[in-house]
Amino acid sequence: MFLSLLSIHPTPALTWVAIGGILDLYVFLGPDPQSVIRQYLQVIGYPMMPPYWSLGFHLCRWGYTTTLTTRHVAQRMHNATFPLDVQWNDLDYANKDRVFTFDPWRFGDLPEMVEDFHERGMKYILILDPGISSSSPPGTYSPFDEGLKRDVFIKNATGHILIGKVWPGQTAFPDFTNPETRRWWEDCIRDFHSKVPVDGLWIDMNEPASFVQGSAEGCPASDLENPPYTPKVVGGQLSSGTLCMSAQQKLSTHYDLHNMYGLTEAYATHSALMNIRGQRPFVLSRSSFPGIGRFSGVWTGDVGSDWEQLRYSIPAVLQFGLFGVPLVGADVCGFGGNTTEELCVRWMQLGAFYPFMRNHNDKPNAPQEPYVFGQKAQAAMRSALNLRYSLLPFLYTLFHHAHTSAATVARPLFMEFPTDDNCQAVDRQFLWGSSLLISPVLEQGAVELAAYLPSGTWYSLKGRYSLLPAPLDTINVHVREGHIIPQQEPALTTVASRRKPFFLTVALSAGGWAWGDLFWDDGDKLHTFETGHYCYVTFTAGQVGKRRVTFAFTVLTVSGLALPMSEVFSVQWAL
Ligand code: NOJ
Repeated sequence: MFLSLLSIHPTPALTWVAIGGILDLYVFLGPDPQSVIRQYLQVIGYPMMPPYWSLGFHLCRWGYTTTLTTRHVAQRMHNATFPLDVQWNDLDYANKDRVFTFDPWRFGDLPEMVEDFHERGMKYILILDPGISSSSPPGTYSPFDEGLKRDVFIKNATGHILIGKVWPGQTAFPDFTNPETRRWWEDCIRDFHSKVPVDGLWIDMNEPASFVQGSAEGCPASDLENPPYTPKVVGGQLSSGTLCMSAQQKLSTHYDLHNMYGLTEAYATHSALMNIRGQRPFVLSRSSFPGIGRFSGVWTGDVGSDWEQLRYSIPAVLQFGLFGVPLVGADVCGFGGNTTEELCVRWMQLGAFYPFMRNHNDKPNAPQEPYVFGQKAQAAMRSALNLRYSLLPFLYTLFHHAHTSAATVARPLFMEFPTDDNCQAVDRQFLWGSSLLISPVLEQGAVELAAYLPSGTWYSLKGRYSLLPAPLDTINVHVREGHIIPQQEPALTTVASRRKPFFLTVALSAGGWAWGDLFWDDGDKLHTFETGHYCYVTFTAGQVGKRRVTFAFTVLTVSGLALPMSEVFSVQWAL
C-alpha cells in the first residue's frame, strides 16, 4: 500500500490517507520515548549484535582501481599510524562490473590481498549489487546461468524475466522472497568466498535501483503502475529508477514488495554469511525497512561533501537508531564532490561517534583518506580515531544493550531527558547511551560552539547553554555524572586494541557515586549472549567522607571466557 497523504498538524494531530490495502495500526503508549522504541522493536525485532571489529574504522572509495592501489592505501594508513580495521573495495574489483567475479588483470591477486590483510589483523569487505548481468554469452557467467536454471529472477507481468539496467548493462533481479533464490544467493556467495574470503558484504543499489524506468521494455498500463494517487517520487512514476510495479515476485507483485527489497536481500545475505563463515555476519545495506536492524547495518547513501550534509547526518543517524538500526553512519568526509581539509577533519571527529564509521568517496573526487591532509589535520583525525578506539569497549557494551533490551546506542537528548523541553529539538548534539555527550563542530570556520548541557554535572558544568572552545583538534565529549566508562588503550586494529589494558573513566555524581558496566566476549562468535559465552562486569564507585573512594566490581562469568582481571582495570577520575 502506498501512502497518499501524511500531514502533521500543530494541534498535535496527524492525518494519514491511504489508497488501499490492509492497515495494521500499532500505537505504542510508552509512556517515555525509550519505552516507545522498546515496544516498537518488540514488534519488528531487536537489532543484531555486530562483530567487534566492525566498530573500528572502515576505509573505502569508488576508484581504488587495482589491488596495488588498495594495498597502498592500507599501507599508507598504517605508516601514518591511523587505526584501520576494515579496507573496502567498491565495484572496481568486479570483472566488467559483474558481481561474484573479479577482474583478472587489475584484481588478479585479490585472494592474496585479502589474506595479507587478515595476517595484519585487518578485515576486508566488498560491494555486491543485486542486479545480475544478463547479457554475458551463455556458459560464461554462472550466477546468471544458474539463476536462470533455478528460476530465481523477478518476472514481468507476462511471466518473462524482467530485464533492467545497472552498472554491468542489462541485468535481471533476484527475487529474495523466493527460498530457492536465497539458496542460490548463498551458493554464489559460498563459491566467491572460497576464492576471496571476504569478512562482510556491502549490499548497494538495492531499492532496487535501475537506470531504465521499470524495465528495458517499459511497463504495461495497469492500476499498479498508475494508481489513483502517486506520491511525489523522483521521476514522477512509481517505476522511475526501479522495476515495474506489475513485476511478479514469489510472494506478491513488486507493488506490494518494492519497499522490502533491501530487507529481503539483507536477510538472505546475513544468513548466507552466517552459514558460510560460521561467525557473526556483517552486512551494510543502502535500502532499509523496519526490521532490517536484525540483519544489517545501514549507511545514509550518497551524501555530498558539504557542511549542510555534515549537519543533516546527525538526525539521520539518530533516526535509524529509533528504527532499530543502531549500526549506522554517513559517508565520512562526504561522498559527492570534493571535500576540504577542514570539513574532513570535522567529519572525522563527528564520524568517530557514528556507531558505524566509514570514510567513503566517489570516483571523480579529490582523495580524502586521512593521510592526504596536512600534519595538523592528520593529528586531529588521529586523535579522533584514537578516542573512538579507546571507547570501543563502551560502544560494544551499548550494542549489547541494544541487542538484548532495545536500548539506543547513538541517542537523541530528548530520549534521555524527556522532561527537559530544551532537549526536544537538539539535533546538533547527541549521546552515546546515557552517559557520553557529543558536541561536534558543524560550521565552517568555527572554533567554539554553543552547546546545551542538560542539568546535572557534566565535568562540573550545570544545565545551561555553554560556549565550548573547539579548536580544530578538538571534539567536545562530556561524561555525565554518576557514570563509569570502560575503555581500552587504542591501537591500529581492534585485534591489537582488544589486547591492551583496560581503564575506567569515573565521573562521580554530586552525591559521590558512579556506576558502569562492560559486556565482553570473543567479538566474533555467533550468539554469545544467548549461549552464555560472555562476561558481564558492573562497576561501582562511592565516596566515603571527603577523600576516600571505594571501588568495587562484580563479574558475571558465564563461560570459560578469558576475563578482564581486576588488576587490568586502572582508574582515571573525570572530575
Ligand atoms: C552507489 C552507492 O551509494 C555508492 O556508495 C557507491 O560508491 C556507488 N553506488 C558505486 O558502487
